[in-house]
Amino acid sequence: MYNTFGVKANSLYFEDADTLSELINILKNPLYQNVDKFILGGGSNVLFTQDFNGLVIKISLKGINVEKEDENNVYVKAYAGEIWDDLVSYSVEKGYGGFENLSGIPGLVGATPIQNIGAYGSEIKSSFESLEAININTGETRFFNLDECKFGYRDSVFKNELKNQYVVVSVLYKLSKKPIINLSYKALKDYFDLIKNNNPTILDVRNAVIKIRSEKLPDTIKFGTAGSFFKNAIISKDKFEILQKNYPDVPFFLEENEKYKIPTGWLIEKAGFKGQRYGNCGVYEKQALVLINFGGATGLEVFEFSKLIQDKVKSIFDIDIEREVVVI
Ligand code: EPU
Repeated sequence: MYNTFGVKANSLYFEDADTLSELINILKNPLYQNVDKFILGGGSNVLFTQDFNGLVIKISLKGINVEKEDENNVYVKAYAGEIWDDLVSYSVEKGYGGFENLSGIPGLVGATPIQNIGAYGSEIKSSFESLEAININTGETRFFNLDECKFGYRDSVFKNELKNQYVVVSVLYKLSKKPIINLSYKALKDYFDLIKNNNPTILDVRNAVIKIRSEKLPDTIKFGTAGSFFKNAIISKDKFEILQKNYPDVPFFLEENEKYKIPTGWLIEKAGFKGQRYGNCGVYEKQALVLINFGGATGLEVFEFSKLIQDKVKSIFDIDIEREVVVI
């Protein structure tokens, strides 16, 4: 089972690419020319609701190396099949700053730019330099710089205009040799205030993030889960004012262009779903943004439950919540 939700699904064809030439050979194989393709990384952000009638390519390209460095920065290239948190651990150990707030996120390097992974006040776009990708249809190589990736909140060009067109093979990150500690996320700041550490290192930040995550997010060994199932909601000022009038305690973050980000976990909790079970799946009792498979849930069951949650949130708050996971 190559998905952390732990649901069963088959594909017509399956290939594992360990090297760039293997990947190109798979893409150029005549057998697969007119077949739908799905690129699988760590399977930590996907929900299979049915069998996939095409080719699944698992990306297993490995390698981490320093490409260049100067007085202030180091440019680290990592191949798509590396485990993301191994790269974070490597960088923190070397004293390179930039990744520490993104500690403990499941999945592989190749997925990090696709959804601009983010947590605890940081997003991958801040450490991103460029990436190398292969066109799924032509097998040609293309490099993308920061602007070309069009990063947004859990978003990039690879989820929009270029959806299903490129396979990321490696990512070049720019890390800092003089790390700046980022405690902008309240939970993180509170953590260091509590232990009276007002000068944390990047290793302290990594350890704190891992600790906070373990308290809020389910143990992926015990439960099937894809982490946050939904994105946080971005709403207009008008909508926010109405919401705040009805719910003065609503948490929010002011975004660009007078938009407001509302934690969807809060909306789902207020809608009464936190800790609720639906067949073999449910909403995690400590973090309502997370759906879990208690064992034996089908992808369809999880999907139906997520629709029920969306409908109820819409009827109570008049807010559309979007799934973060990719649904097949
Ligand atoms: N909240 C509730 N009830 C809940 C959950 C959250 O009221 O059950 C409210 C609280 O006000 C809380 C606020 O939501 O203060 C924020 O909660 P939290 O710090 O847990 O973060 P989040 O916004 O729910 C996002 C990411 C997480 C990431 C955390 C920490 C998304 C979709 N999710 O969650 O990412 O770890 O911030 O930065 O943006 C993931 O993508 O899989 C993931 C876990």
